This record gives sequence, structure tokens and C-alpha cells, in this order.
Amino acid sequence: MDDGVNNQHVIMDEIIEASSPDIGLRTEECLGVERIDPCTIVILGATGDLTARKLIPALFNLYLNDGLPNPFHIVGCGRTKLSNEQFRGKMKNALLTTNLMNHSKWPSFAAALSYRSVDYGDLTSFISLAVFLRKLDQKYNTKGNRIFYLALPPSLYKDVAQMVGQAGLSKEMENNNGWSRLVVEKPFGRDLKTAVELDRGLHEYFQEHQIFRIDHYLAKETVQNILMFRFANAVFEPIWNRRYIDHVNIIASETIGVEHRSGYYDQAGVIRDMFQNHMMQLLALTAMEAPSQFETERVRDEKIKVFRSLRPFPVDKLYEHIVLGQYGRADIDGKPVQAYREEPGVSPDSLTPTYAMMKVFIDNWRWQGVPFMLTSGKRLAGKLTEIAIQFKEVPHSMFRQALGETIAANRLTLGIYPEEKITLTFQAKTTGAQVCLRTVTMDFPFHQNYQGPVLDAYEKVLIDCMLGDQMLFWRQDGVEHCWSFLTPIINECETCGNRAEKLQIYEPGSWGPRAIGST
Ligand code: BG6
Repeated sequence: MDDGVNNQHVIMDEIIEASSPDIGLRTEECLGVERIDPCTIVILGATGDLTARKLIPALFNLYLNDGLPNPFHIVGCGRTKLSNEQFRGKMKNALLTTNLMNHSKWPSFAAALSYRSVDYGDLTSFISLAVFLRKLDQKYNTKGNRIFYLALPPSLYKDVAQMVGQAGLSKEMENNNGWSRLVVEKPFGRDLKTAVELDRGLHEYFQEHQIFRIDHYLAKETVQNILMFRFANAVFEPIWNRRYIDHVNIIASETIGVEHRSGYYDQAGVIRDMFQNHMMQLLALTAMEAPSQFETERVRDEKIKVFRSLRPFPVDKLYEHIVLGQYGRADIDGKPVQAYREEPGVSPDSLTPTYAMMKVFIDNWRWQGVPFMLTSGKRLAGKLTEIAIQFKEVPHSMFRQALGETIAANRLTLGIYPEEKITLTFQAKTTGAQVCLRTVTMDFPFHQNYQGPVLDAYEKVLIDCMLGDQMLFWRQDGVEHCWSFLTPIINECETCGNRAEKLQIYEPGSWGPRAIGST
């Protein structure tokens, strides 16, 4: 064969490879389950809402997809006195409200569920839990490896973690223990001071590598994909900076109101509920530098650098950088919708914001001067979670004379909800004799050509915790840097004299109050 024919083959190989993009890991390799040690998952707060709505469905779905170790055991703990059978019955009912129930697999899963009633304030109760767990290890060969999942009100985190520690359950590789991990749900404190206090309390018995601070946004597939998209492609990174990007919009809007969580929410408000955690993580993933390796601490180090570069808000000009709102009353689709202040459990003169938009700047070389607009709110017109990278306009339009119009700048959207997809908008000629431009899109639906199981965020969190992989969990210094940035803002918003005047009441079903511009 001459060189021309050889080259032709090489080119054809490249084309074929490019058009069959799904050469990757097998599903089970993606789950990583073969590396999970046998273990017991101890859920503290097992009669609560989180266990029934999220944890048991996630564990059951993992079980259906061979995503749990063999052997495994689940121990539900709560104050209520229940027999194993009663607990199993409750969990079965919870699963029946989902579309996950598989009647042929349920009995074997149910056999791996036990229940212990525990008094959270009584050490002897935890000591007898420890004895019980050791017996289970012998019976099921779960090797003393345990996850303690705090599905409890945040006010109990510290005390319960300490009880677990005092009962000798936090020490690894001692007293017949294997590894021992503690899972903590947000909120991690309600400001910098309380976050530091909570952390000190947890660290009395657990070391940092044992503490898994959950942010379920990090476990969303499309959120995880941000790093792959940015750093496994050569074409985007060179333009991912202040030279080409005009501003970035990060939005997490919801249609639901405060639901049954007013007790917590009225004390927290949207900044603590959504910004201190999820919005900050989305910001960090969008703005961070490439770590030298895809390795937990290196990734988390790069995020910390973003948090440390956040420009503090000028407290005297706060409202040039932040808009706060609260939903009022309206009719949506002919049905009356209560105002936030009319929701059960909310004080009728509450000034808690249910909406916030912040204009945030990152003081470093890459991002100097680029506004990051972060928006989140409840009872808005749609449930939408996305990151939109708005590029700058073309520096000069040679079409201006012919078209007399400004050319819409490119936009790259990383869609997280409802559509998990990446979209790039660009300009193209409209078909036909006339010279006209139109904005068109190139879309990549995230699950295209993928047929394996799709992990829900809690499933991913549980797998990673069983694997001991903290990449998708908050590290304490990250928590503290974010609180350092947000605490002065929250304090000012909560104490300023014109607080009521600054809180804009918006109509439910709208896109929220008047927004601040990106310029
Ligand atoms: C939670 C907040 O962390 O995230 C809730 O406490 C919010 O108030 C929820 O509704 C939104 O999560 P998602 O995955 O539905 O966007």
C-alpha cells in the first residue's frame, strides 16, 4: 500500500472513532462497587422524613443495581420504640410511594434491615448500640466497618456524634472496629462561629478523613461533569477567562415554596439554605483552576482558592450587589397560593428572604472584573438549575452595515435541571436569498447513548461514603471560607434598619423581584 492509502486508513479510523463516542467503562466499573468493603450503615434518625424519602429508596435502588457491598446491613435508630418488623413495614410503605418497589427483591433487602431504639442523650443507650453492632458484625461478617449517618435535626449533630465517639465507635481499627465514618447533612452551622463550634465538636472523636459533609448538588451527574467538560477538552479552557467571558449566571430556581420545613427555613432563609452550600459549589467548579490530578485533596484545594479569592461585599453598598425577596400571595393556574408569611409555622411579619440574587466577583487573574450572578429562590416561574457562560460580543461586526443589528454573543449553558444537557448558541446564516443571521444551538443531552443505571444524588453520596472517597463532600476549610464570605452579608441584611424596605415582595410564579444587572 502506498502512503496515500495508509493515510486514508488513518483518517477513516479517526472518523470511525469519533463517531462511536461511547467507548468507556462498563456500568459496574462506573459504580466502582467491586471496591466497597462489607459494612453496616447506621442511620440515626431512621423514623424521620429523610430516611423514608431519600435514604432507604437510595439504598434499595443501589441494592437492585448490585451497588451495595456483600455483605451489608442497615441499622435504623430512632427514639421511637419499634420492632424490626415494624421498621421494615414503615420502610416498605415508603418504597411503595416511589416507583422503585420490586416485590421479589424486597424480602432479601428487608432481611438486612434492623432497628434499635436509642435515647440520643443517654450514653448507655449508645453503649448498648455498640454491643448490638458488634454482634451484627459476627452474624453477618460486616468486619466492623460502619457508616453513622446523621439524619437528624442539626441541633443534635454534635451531641450525637460525641455519643457515638464516647461509646467507642469512632476509633478505627480498635475494639473490633474496622473503619468508621460520619455523614453530616447541611446546614453546617448557621454562621462562621457556629460552623467552627460544630466542627470542633465533631473532631473531638472523628478525624477529618472520617467526616463526610454532604452537598447533594455535588453528587448530581451534570455537576460532576463540569470538571470533565472543562479539563478533558482542549477547546474551552483557553477562552474560559475574562478576555472572552462577559459574565456568568448561576441559577437554581424552584417552583415549590417552603413546604413542611418552615421551622428550619424561617430561621435560615435562602442565603443559608442555598448559597452557603450549593451555589458556592457551582461557583467553585465553574471558576477553579485545573488541579494537577483528579484527586480528592487537589480538587478541594483548588475550590478553596476560589473561595479565598471572593471579593468581600462592600457593606455600605450592599444592595448594589444583592437583591432579596420574599414571595407574596397570588393565584397560580386559578389556585390561590399562600404568601410566605401565611405558610404554617412562618411568623406573619417574617423578613426571611426566599429569593436572593448576588453579584459576586473573584479577585484573581483569570476572573478579574467578570461578574458571577448567583440567583436562587422559591415559588418562581420554573424549576431550573443551570450555569450559563455568557461570552463577549464580537469585537467588530462586519455585518453591521448589511444587517444593522447587534449580533447576539455566544452562550454556553451547562444545564443541570430540568434538562441535563450542554448547549452552545452561535450565529448562523438564515437559509434563503436574504442576508440574515439567526441564533442556533448545538446541544448535547447528557444521557445520550447511555443505557446503564443513572444514580440519584443520594445513591452517589452513599457509594462514595462506602468507598471512603471525599471528593464530592465539603472539607471544613471550604465551609469556613464560605461562611467568612457570607456571614457579614447575612449579618448586615438581618440587622440593618431598612431591612423591611429592602426585602422585595414578589409574585409567586414570576421570576422574582427586579434583578440587578451584570454591568
Ligand atoms: C436543599 C434545600 O438543600 O436543596 C432546599 O434545603 C431546596 O430548600 C433543595 O429545595 C433543592 O434541591 P434540588 O436538588 O431539588 O435542586
